[in-house]
Amino acid sequence: MAEPTERRNFYGRVHGKTLRASQKDYLANDLESLRLQGVAPSENPERTPLDLAAVFETPRPVWVEVGFGGGEHLVHMAARYPQVGLIGCEPFVNGIAMLLGKIRAAGVTNLAIHPGDARDLFDVLPPASVDKVFLNYPDPWPKARHHRRRFVTPGYLALLARVMKPGAEFRVATDIPDYVRQTLEELPKASFVLDRQTGVGEAWEDWISTRYEQKALREGRAPHYLTFHRAA
Ligand SMILES: C[S@@+](CC[C@H](N)C(=O)[O-])C[C@H]1O[C@@H](n2cnc3c(N)ncnc32)[C@H](O)[C@@H]1O
Repeated sequence: MAEPTERRNFYGRVHGKTLRASQKDYLANDLESLRLQGVAPSENPERTPLDLAAVFETPRPVWVEVGFGGGEHLVHMAARYPQVGLIGCEPFVNGIAMLLGKIRAAGVTNLAIHPGDARDLFDVLPPASVDKVFLNYPDPWPKARHHRRRFVTPGYLALLARVMKPGAEFRVATDIPDYVRQTLEELPKASFVLDRQTGVGEAWEDWISTRYEQKALREGRAPHYLTFHRAA
């Protein structure tokens, strides 16, 4: 059973180092028009489901990226798949500002942003409305007592499973072997079926390496790529 919205804790960072003037400009001028309305509980206390057909100009498949970091993968996917509507969630303001800079540079228009916790987005997405989900390098929470904060835990996964279409793909990339273990343990319990598990040099054909992956590689940690689908 999902936790009630008001009891949720978010343990990650929301602010980082001082933003550059250009980044403040992106946040002040670009975020509002790209931000999904009616996701934050304060804006939609009734948790009325979003009308996705009204979010993107034409009806289209919807893909979601959880924790887009600096936004390189999200913008890459938006440019590569202009017929898809992508929604990125990320509470870290510096990451959102980086994404906005990349959106301006790439000129992509098939993107919407939820600048907050993915769980708030899942609450208001209609059931079985999402065609693909990306979880790239989720926060590892290495200490055993913090493993329950990981994304691949029942509370997050129940919310995610509800909004994914039967057969929809769920991709997980991580550099943490114990995260692979927990993912393989928890996802089948939450209605996901493993299709593929690969390693270094064997990412998805349309993958672009993210900032976090580059850091992991520099520090000698190997990527793991896991592909699941939502059971029918
Ligand atoms: C280790 S970083 C990886 C960022 C990026 N995906 C990459 O590969 O470079 C994990 C990101 O997930 C975000 N995150 C953590 N919990 C989240 C949540 N509940 N909803 C959305 N994003 C979340 C964090 O703010 C952080 O930016």
